[in-house]
Amino acid sequence: MKLLVLFSLFFVLCSVESLKVLVLFHMPVKSLSILGTGVVRHLLNAGHEVTYVTVYPLKNPPTKNFRQIDISKNVELVANDETLTMGYVLEHQIEKNGAYQIQVFSQENARQTFQNENLKKLIQDPNEHFDVVFSDLLESEVYSGLAVLYDCPMIWLYSMGAHWQVLRLIDHGTNPAFTPDYLSPNDLPLSLFERVEELWARIRWQFLKTFITQPEERKIYEETFGPLLAQRGRTLPDYEEVMYNASLIFANEHHAIRDRPATPQNFKYVGGFHIEDPVQPLPKHFQDLIENSKHGVIYFSMGSFLKSNSLPKKLVQELLNMFGQLKQTVIWKFETTLPDVPKNVHIVHWAPQPSILAHPNVKIFITHGGLLSSMEAIHFGVPIIGVPVFFDQFTNINKAVINGYALRVNLNYDLPKGLSAAIDVMLNDDRYSKKVKEMSAIYHDSLTKPGDEIVHWVEHVVRTRGARHLRSPAFNVPLYQRLYLDVLAIILAAVYLVKYIIASFDTKKAKKQSQKKKN
Ligand SMILES: *[C@@H]1O[C@H](CO)[C@@H](O)[C@H](O)[C@H]1NC(C)=O
Repeated sequence: MKLLVLFSLFFVLCSVESLKVLVLFHMPVKSLSILGTGVVRHLLNAGHEVTYVTVYPLKNPPTKNFRQIDISKNVELVANDETLTMGYVLEHQIEKNGAYQIQVFSQENARQTFQNENLKKLIQDPNEHFDVVFSDLLESEVYSGLAVLYDCPMIWLYSMGAHWQVLRLIDHGTNPAFTPDYLSPNDLPLSLFERVEELWARIRWQFLKTFITQPEERKIYEETFGPLLAQRGRTLPDYEEVMYNASLIFANEHHAIRDRPATPQNFKYVGGFHIEDPVQPLPKHFQDLIENSKHGVIYFSMGSFLKSNSLPKKLVQELLNMFGQLKQTVIWKFETTLPDVPKNVHIVHWAPQPSILAHPNVKIFITHGGLLSSMEAIHFGVPIIGVPVFFDQFTNINKAVINGYALRVNLNYDLPKGLSAAIDVMLNDDRYSKKVKEMSAIYHDSLTKPGDEIVHWVEHVVRTRGARHLRSPAFNVPLYQRLYLDVLAIILAAVYLVKYIIASFDTKKAKKQSQKKKN
């Protein structure tokens, strides 16, 4: 009897708990793939079976419960784009990003993804099935077609915070008066002009989306999934219905950040999940280097996407000279070997960033302000000097500055001077490190770890067949009803009607009177 109970318990655990998850990270952006790898790691640790569609296939993939679908061909979309280098930005000083360009880029990427031979093989196989589709979300929702194909719930992971563009997929967009767009350089509180700017940015974005990119996306959706569903004897639902049918959105943001707008129940903050906890131990030479630095360490890295070797030689030399005058050890992640490097500066082609930041002797982190770097700074409590280059980096750094644990330096030919001044301020004022430690404490003071949160909600969505109970009621209320424009129209019509009646009454009276006079 006991054995039977044990056996059935085992059976229940096995059959219910192990899910088949399709994880899709389609953007040719390294940092996003790091998020993808994080998701995969947590799902595998929880005993689920993962099919990982990735632009950057893992070199040492796990052998159990895992397979990867290589879509590295997507890299071609950015491979020869010189505008994505620091050298280009330095010359052209682009502060503003184009909403349209990003929409088109995402769409082109979606097209490439669905035309990829490896992915085609997967989706054309009628014997494949998944319990849930988990995809990266950036400006294009075509991937939701996969949830239709496998007749399962859809979960998005958004690499940024609670932005209106994604909230509108499950609730409604936030109020632009207090939530700037992710591409906007505006800080809170917004001035009158900035509020107009934010409103205009949204109107423009929505216009582009509705009339230009979305019709194209619909085509990709219909061309890709129409035949596949026909093959399986089903008809394709309307794109709009599918787009707005996600069960849950995870956001790569966390609770320690200020000024987050209210969000619906099916929007979950899981920022920091990509960081291994505990971190990998430092390799011996890094360990020795950092431990033997009497005055502490400054760690300088512009991330994995930006290539620092696109910077002019003269500027690099000036940076080296500036770093050479410091007492601190400087670890600079740089892709090429440099001549005449000062004694206290160490150029490394690769750096175990989390493990470095975890070391208490690391005093300052100089970064481009990418999402992951910003997150790691909080996780490990290291103040930052931000040199934003593009995309959301301006917003990230501005936020960090407002939150009090960062200084911002602009990328231009005065970079060495700017950095030198910022380093000086930060070394002599412990406000920044105190603040970041305080935020780090808030971030860590949480019921669950972000990775466990992901696993729980993925399982919850599958167990409850799409978590319909989490859907926001606001979602089904159109904008004109939310703004009570219909009521306003009724009131205006009523006022007009009353005025009309009074006016016609008056003219009748006037006519009668004039008739009386004539008589
Ligand atoms: C929307 O999602 C739910 C839950 O996953 C699913 O049952 C339903 O079929 C989906 N609807 C469409 C139109 O895809």
